[in-house]
Amino acid sequence: MPLPKAELHLHIEGTLEPELAFELAARNGVTLPYADTGALREAYAFDDLQSFLDLYYALMAVLRTEQDFEDLADAYLARAAAQGVRHAEIFFDPQAHLARGVPMDTVVEGLWRALGRSERSHGVSTRLILCFLRDESAESAMETLTAARPHLDRITGVGLDSAEVGHPPAKFRAVYEAAAALGLRRVAHAGEEGPPAYVTEALDVLGVERVDHGLRSMEDPALVARLVRERIPLTLCPLSNVRLRTVDTLADHPLPAMLEAGLMCTLNSDDPAYFGGYAGDTFDAVRAVLGLTDDRLRELARNSFLAAFLDDDEERRAR
Ligand code: ADE
Ligand code: ZN
Repeated sequence: MPLPKAELHLHIEGTLEPELAFELAARNGVTLPYADTGALREAYAFDDLQSFLDLYYALMAVLRTEQDFEDLADAYLARAAAQGVRHAEIFFDPQAHLARGVPMDTVVEGLWRALGRSERSHGVSTRLILCFLRDESAESAMETLTAARPHLDRITGVGLDSAEVGHPPAKFRAVYEAAAALGLRRVAHAGEEGPPAYVTEALDVLGVERVDHGLRSMEDPALVARLVRERIPLTLCPLSNVRLRTVDTLADHPLPAMLEAGLMCTLNSDDPAYFGGYAGDTFDAVRAVLGLTDDRLRELARNSFLAAFLDDDEERRAR
């Protein structure tokens, strides 16, 4: 039995496996510039975040209908359940779809068809988190929040993703204030490729409750002390860090040092179709390569439920 866990850092578009990409391409009459799934997989050799994002956005061309988004989410939830995920807080990138002419309605309603029945069909409770693309303008983020207003019964929070460096959190102050006023929870990617100062800014300017990645926090001892003191959860994604070359190898990952420092770490899979593993695979890899004890692995799993946007009753049930 895999350890029960919550997945808190998962981009639904990053769960698009090559087989499903080709199936959806055929269904929608989209031609992919790859001969087959093998050729597509060969393109998954990334130098950095941007080289991944280029392919990640390009492959979204196959996602067009509610059915596509439902199938994508359903496939993810089935895999997650098989790996011990009991609760999943799922990011989506509406701007990437709106830009291709796919309306917010199609995306949210399609995802919700799978998420809304997931407790019954997969034993996985879910939350949906709308991410703003930080390399788009602040105005575009605000328009996206406005477009999402009819769907707020389905959306728990907002996040911030895409190309980090040069797009500091403060750029999105106004939209995060508007999101907070609507009662939405707040998270943001920070300190993945960007400096520790972005983590501080995400906390102070955007009021985030969790930091996605937060890896580079380790470069600033005062920030580490603050994160420990304030029990701010970090949603770490070690397999992603290796594939995007923010760490050289998994053996070099600072996770053990971060736990030793007292940080509230969680383990997540980010874009598992691209980075070689889902939540359970990630736990297995850090156990094997970083030699974490069973107590540490249980701590990581416990943290994932504590850091989730669940109320106390839901949290007890999910564990
Ligand atoms: N979008 C999808 N995956 C991402 C990541 N790891 N960092 C930033 N934006 C992303
Ligand atoms: Zn991410």
